[in-house]
Amino acid sequence: MRAIIATPDADPGYRPDEVPEPVAGPDQVLIDVEHVSVNHGEVRYARAFPSGAVLGHDAVGRVLRAAETGAGPRVGAWVVALGAGAWANRVAVDVDAVAEIPSGMDVAELAVLPTVGVTALRALRSTGPLHGRRVLVTGASGGVGRIAVQLARGVGAEVIAVVGSASRAAGLASLGANEVVVGIDAIDDEVDVVVETVGGVVLPAAWRLLSPGGVLHSIGWASGEPATFPVNSTFAFGAARSLRSFGDVTSPGEDLAHLMDLVRKGALRAPVGWRGSWRRLDEAAAALLGRRVAGKVLLDVD
Ligand SMILES: NC(=O)c1ccc[n+]([C@@H]2O[C@H](COP(=O)([O-])OP(=O)(O)OC[C@H]3O[C@@H](n4cnc5c(N)ncnc54)[C@H](OP(=O)(O)O)[C@@H]3O)[C@@H](O)[C@H]2O)c1
Repeated sequence: MRAIIATPDADPGYRPDEVPEPVAGPDQVLIDVEHVSVNHGEVRYARAFPSGAVLGHDAVGRVLRAAETGAGPRVGAWVVALGAGAWANRVAVDVDAVAEIPSGMDVAELAVLPTVGVTALRALRSTGPLHGRRVLVTGASGGVGRIAVQLARGVGAEVIAVVGSASRAAGLASLGANEVVVGIDAIDDEVDVVVETVGGVVLPAAWRLLSPGGVLHSIGWASGEPATFPVNSTFAFGAARSLRSFGDVTSPGEDLAHLMDLVRKGALRAPVGWRGSWRRLDEAAAALLGRRVAGKVLLDVD
């Protein structure tokens, strides 16, 4: 079958190639992949994957073989999945990492949801009730950011979206941001929760804005720059603030089903910012890392 594999020793760190079909375990479904999405880290750090590993994590397709255990979706069902090796004609995914797509939905766009959707959902949900709280989303123009803005607003938070330039603000107000701000230094008022995806100078600047008792979720480091915290800035007089790392997208099936349900109800828009054939991965990756994609890259496995 065709797949995109990691090439740690050659630019850009991946290439299309012929690889053996995956062998599904007893608790896995084999999926005939139709659409995939590209995550920031998958192309930026492709060279960090083992040579020959099939890249990608987010897929939509039809079940070609059901799990031997009898769990999970039946043969022929359309599913959305989060599993390693997604950029391929076929992928084997654990049954607890897939969710069946309800009939009548646009299946293609759902491929952008798995990694960024489960990430934003789990980070926000772990914070506790958000109604009436001020939630700051950095890198709001990106994949995690566009989902976080919508989910936070959807549960009644006041959402402040931070972008890097005026052109990157497009569409965020219509997704639910109460304020869209160019550059974090333009913000003065405290926030209760931060969804932080940029790192570098943005991380300590967001920490400075965090209210007593507040939580900063450090989800990503899209800037690729180190952060320096001012001396004494991490101890508290009064209620402590939390800086939490995030990295748990295991067993995401139920959360994938929840995210799809929000899309079906019109409460969440799948943030497709670029769509094309997976043969155009180079072009798509350059646009994503060049900050020219409003949301996610969706690739058709044609
Ligand atoms: N912990 C986890 O499990 C997890 C899960 C998903 C993603 N992540 C990480 O979270 C981060 C965001 O992911 P994403 O999918 O939202 O990425 P994305 O779609 O590429 O968005 C990242 C945003 O960061 C901003 N940015 C600032 N400096 C940048 C730079 N030098 N290069 C590129 N973007 C820059 C850009 O906004 P402006 O152009 O408006 O400045 C961009 O829209 C990435 O580091 C990713 O690896 C982690």
